[in-house]
Amino acid sequence: MSAVSNPLPVVLGCDHAAFALKQKVKAHLIERGIEVQDVGTTGETSVDYPDFGVKVAFRVSSGEFERGILMCGTGLGMSMVANKFPHVRAALCNDLFSAIMSRRHNNANILVMGGRVVGEALAAEIVDAWLETAFEGGRHQTRLDKFDSYEEMKKRYEQSR
Ligand code: RB5
Repeated sequence: MSAVSNPLPVVLGCDHAAFALKQKVKAHLIERGIEVQDVGTTGETSVDYPDFGVKVAFRVSSGEFERGILMCGTGLGMSMVANKFPHVRAALCNDLFSAIMSRRHNNANILVMGGRVVGEALAAEIVDAWLETAFEGGRHQTRLDKFDSYEEMKKRYEQSR
């Protein structure tokens, strides 16, 4: 297993439905020389996914971490929670193509996966591709600028009516 070139630290969180996958993903990241902050959950006792989604989303939104990974049963709830936070672009990627494109075109800063959707091997491939794929910028940055702030988006929409 090769180390990721120029690895960024990653903040990692999950609910009970993805605890097993989170443990696998965490071990995979550590094996690849990536520093990990694990914000829980710590077992398979039922918890509420928003309580762990905010721990990761807040750290990315504030700039403390550039990259985060969230997992719940489907990945849906965690992505909904994370995308409430300013400057968070959370992408639900339960397949490799979406993971690559979420970096190239969307500059996703939180990867979300479903512990009841993807298996360990696919999750590791998705994580590696997501961490190693660069944002293409250019016209994609112009598009990201259009939804970075809710206020700006609302103002632009009202002016266009
Ligand atoms: C928990 O049962 C499940 O609802 C949660 O993990 C997630 O899939 C929500 O979106």
